[in-house]
Amino acid sequence: MNHGIEGKVCLITGAARGIGSATARLFAEAGAAVALFDRDEAGVTALAGQLRQQGTRAFGAALDVRDLDAYTQAVARAEQAFDGVDFIVNVAGGGSRQTLATMTSEDWHAIVDLNLTGPFNSIKAGAPALRRRGGGAIVTVASLAALTMSMNNGLSYTASKAGVLGLTRHAAFELGRDNIRVNAVLPGPVLTPQMKAKLSAEKLAAVPRTLPLGRWVQPEEVAAPILFFCSPMSSACTGTHVVIDCGLHVGSPNSRDEYDRTRDLEA
Ligand SMILES: NC(=O)c1ccc[n+]([C@@H]2O[C@H](COP(=O)([O-])OP(=O)(O)OC[C@H]3O[C@@H](n4cnc5c(N)ncnc54)[C@H](O)[C@@H]3O)[C@@H](O)[C@H]2O)c1
Repeated sequence: MNHGIEGKVCLITGAARGIGSATARLFAEAGAAVALFDRDEAGVTALAGQLRQQGTRAFGAALDVRDLDAYTQAVARAEQAFDGVDFIVNVAGGGSRQTLATMTSEDWHAIVDLNLTGPFNSIKAGAPALRRRGGGAIVTVASLAALTMSMNNGLSYTASKAGVLGLTRHAAFELGRDNIRVNAVLPGPVLTPQMKAKLSAEKLAAVPRTLPLGRWVQPEEVAAPILFFCSPMSSACTGTHVVIDCGLHVGSPNSRDEYDRTRDLEA
């Protein structure tokens, strides 16, 4: 299928596994060149090697998205390798299960740096390159928790992902004049290999029962709306988001008991 991004160049972070690697594969299939970054250098280098064997222009390298200088160098490296960059997709992110009672200031800053400063760095470092190209698209990866709250992670995750939506809207406003669109995707429960390894068989079976579609979201189903936000199909969309959650936001059984049972709320 022609998605209208053939020959374009996409920089993707968090690309070593999960949603990031599914996104890299989808963009490669659609004919884009991909510059893959992750703190897991071996992971992105291996994926880039596989994609090159399939005929995609690709490279992988180390990046800590929390470091603006390093992000700027990563964008420059992609620009040099592929003569420009059209899309920036910041997938790297993560959570902590700390509660208000157990979270230290360091724990708080670690998650906010990763989930909110990382996307800020993607926009700050990426926008000049996209401007040089005459426009482009940036996609941030928030979470359904940005609109509700996270039941798997702590309040630093919920707050930082909600912040990503404000960042996305405001950057969309500022960058509209440069023909740069900025949009967010909000995944619900995604069955990545990491998630599969982390959860008990009981929990893996229970989650689908709370979802209107009765199943987990697959990483490829998050990659698809990311591609949509980069493609000409979304040419009038900026500062907006799409929820990809098998219907979780519609309403789920009360999970409060489990939350209280499995957390330290008193420390
Ligand atoms: N899996 C889900 O259910 C789910 C739900 C909602 C939102 N999300 C969001 O989607 C994104 C990807 O999630 P995933 O499930 O694929 O995660 P994952 O843990 O499988 O992969 C995350 C990747 O980011 C990389 N990474 C972590 N910190 C980094 C840093 N500082 N710099 C560079 N790379 C770093 C990791 O090495 C890893 O390769 C995250 O932002 C996450 O918050 C995931």
